[in-house]
Amino acid sequence: MKRTDLAINIAGHELANPVMTCSGTFGSGKEYCSFMDLNMLGAVVCKGISVLPWNGNPPPRIAEVYGGMLNSVGLQNSGVDSFIANDIPFLRKFNTKIVANLVGHSLSEYEAVAQRLNETDIDMMELNISCPNVREGGATFGTDTRKAAEITTVVRRVCTKPLIVKLSPNVTNISEIAIAVESSGADAVSLINTVLAMRIDIYRRRPVLAQKVGGMSGPAVKPIAIRMVYQVARAVKIPVIGMGGIRTPEDAIEFLLAGASAVGVGSSHFFNPQASVEVVNGIRSYMEGQGFASIREINEALIDE
Ligand SMILES: Cc1cc2nc3c(=O)[nH]c(=O)nc-3n(C[C@H](O)[C@H](O)[C@H](O)COP(=O)(O)O)c2cc1C
Repeated sequence: MKRTDLAINIAGHELANPVMTCSGTFGSGKEYCSFMDLNMLGAVVCKGISVLPWNGNPPPRIAEVYGGMLNSVGLQNSGVDSFIANDIPFLRKFNTKIVANLVGHSLSEYEAVAQRLNETDIDMMELNISCPNVREGGATFGTDTRKAAEITTVVRRVCTKPLIVKLSPNVTNISEIAIAVESSGADAVSLINTVLAMRIDIYRRRPVLAQKVGGMSGPAVKPIAIRMVYQVARAVKIPVIGMGGIRTPEDAIEFLLAGASAVGVGSSHFFNPQASVEVVNGIRSYMEGQGFASIREINEALIDE
């Protein structure tokens, strides 16, 4: 019988399995470690980190929708110094990779946070150019091919660790942006960030979110994410990390068949803190049951001729 190996490789770094957390949905794992074993995860992708602390947007900034949620949190975080002092030492106690998610308002802010993080012992960086909830920075870089390439080049110059670029679904042609960041030095791409969306309270006759629009995540966005991962995996040679609506192992396996080398579990943690561990175990059972020895074999197994 073939040995089942869940390990995957991103820019020469081996992850024990392909399951990560999605940035912003798991903190740095502190709130979750009493519900699950962080050693079970391929990587913990931390919340977005900026040079200085950010307060985020005013409430209401969360709303439920069928099959998911809207958020306009706006990358609230306590800044890179606090991350280095508190979060990295906490996560280093576990046998999992640490991925820091970088945010900024400008090229120079992204560059500065990348420079600081490069001096630490985190394993990888994820460049968030796709947050829809900040006025400057965020998606203004991720929805413009030229700007996406430019910011990847700037961060690549100061980042000697594997660099993942997180793409926005709020574009006409996501493959074009993926190709641009690959040519500018990205080691991997992750997708999707949240989908721009809105809810209206019919009795108050006002938008539900204070910011009016926010980003939608959860099971309802999964078919959009699968389509985009499928397209991007065929457009670039670097690994693709797929996320958007993963709730069960079966959801994650769909992403692997679409061509994702790894997957992220996000909003599902809010109603099932063990979701990512269940996904790891379910992928292993599927591989054993279907006779797959590696994640790459699943990546190559889709019949779509
Ligand atoms: C409350 C919340 C906060 C988020 N914060 C970040 C963030 O800081 N950086 C980032 O790149 N993505 C952030 N995201 C997007 C998620 O990482 C993920 O790409 C998206 O939610 C889709 O996955 P899901 O449907 O499994 O949640 C956030 C999502 C939510 C719901």
